[in-house]
Amino acid sequence: MTASWNKEANQKPNIYKARYLCSLNNIKMSDIKIKVIDREDQEHMLEAPTDMNMNLMEVFKAYELPVEGTCGGMALCSTCHCYVLSEHELPEATDDEEDMLDQAFFVEDNSRLGCQLKINDDINGLVVKLAPSAE
Ligand code: FES
Repeated sequence: MTASWNKEANQKPNIYKARYLCSLNNIKMSDIKIKVIDREDQEHMLEAPTDMNMNLMEVFKAYELPVEGTCGGMALCSTCHCYVLSEHELPEATDDEEDMLDQAFFVEDNSRLGCQLKINDDINGLVVKLAPSAE
């Protein structure tokens, strides 16, 4: 499965349809870049908008990376589990996130739930690796 959009065909993820509409109304939007290493060690450079209240799991899914997000971002499934490889200062994990990671497989010190990481300027340049699937 190819996770990044087809640049030749200019097919961008659906999140960019909303961006296009905002650009028509002169609404200023900004992107950050996130590097994702998938479970086959393929690197994907993603662009994510900071002003659409998205989280990292939703960006994974928008780029069709193999992340289920089964619980819809409620910190109840751990299918968005990833490892943070860069040195970014991230918000502390909430009790709900910690509780879910306590039950997840393959947990490391740098484990986070993608759904609990908000897309904002503070995580520009973030590097994450998808955790192995628990299945
Ligand atoms: S989507 Fe379920 S824990 Fe993140």
